[in-house]
Amino acid sequence: MSAQSETVRRLSVLDIAKLHADGVRIATITAYDFPTAAIVDEAGLPLILVGDSLAQVMLGYDTTVRVTMDEMLHHTKAVVRGTKRALIVADMPFLTYSNPEEALHNAGRFMREAGVQAVKLEGGVRSARTIEALVKAGIPVMGHIGLTPQAINTLGKVRVQGKSREQARQLLADALAVQEAGAFAVVLELVPEQLAAAITERLRIPTIGIGAGAGCSGQIQVINDTLGYTDWTPRHARKYADMHATILAAVAQYRADVEAGTFPAEAETVRMDDSVLDEVLGRSAADMADIEMPLAGIPLDRDL
Ligand code: KIV
Repeated sequence: MSAQSETVRRLSVLDIAKLHADGVRIATITAYDFPTAAIVDEAGLPLILVGDSLAQVMLGYDTTVRVTMDEMLHHTKAVVRGTKRALIVADMPFLTYSNPEEALHNAGRFMREAGVQAVKLEGGVRSARTIEALVKAGIPVMGHIGLTPQAINTLGKVRVQGKSREQARQLLADALAVQEAGAFAVVLELVPEQLAAAITERLRIPTIGIGAGAGCSGQIQVINDTLGYTDWTPRHARKYADMHATILAAVAQYRADVEAGTFPAEAETVRMDDSVLDEVLGRSAADMADIEMPLAGIPLDRDL
């Protein structure tokens, strides 16, 4: 056993609670594939979400409503395979947790088939009964309130939640309901900074904000925004890299090299013993003596 495999172990929700208790801000990001997840894990992030944002940023759907359980499972398995330490949370897709029975069945698939340590689902008070059933069954749950993208068809558009008195009261109630149902953390998406901070102060469990200000217990971002895969960056995101420019430049250079005949060069090429090929092609001294060679140097009377 190598020194690394001895020391690296998969984090659990208890480790996340400990980080929170120790006052460590919990840096969380999404990942959807094996190589990216491996890099995120290497960077030491304690928690990775296989978000249903997969629908838009990886699969090209218009909303998260479109992604299926099978698509989520496929990507979640790759993320688990790519990581050794981070706690992996799988996002439950639209209509896969409408009642506790259905939620247990689908969350069970994420745990058994993909090997995640937790699931995330949207909704506060409305999802509390389901969260409770999952937690009682031994499935750790991360809540998600504020903007809940799976409700886009009732919300109309992506907008900040909780600015009005009524919405702010509802969000507070949602946060408490998620905590009392047994969730280990809750995502606050697109919530005004002061409200998110007030919710954070009132909860025991960590709040993980996205577009909810610096007062949350941790932050989550969609990795494509953080790495700059597209020209557009949401207001709440910061572009830490420009992958669009990097990939574009690299692929354009590759194309230019292929077109110019400079790729592959000697360093990227394998050679064989010329005498072996001469023999295969009938170019050995004996063959040369009595075979009439065609223009291309391949004997016409040989079955190659
Ligand atoms: O699907 C997702 O990526 C999410 C995060 C934005 C929290 O739910």
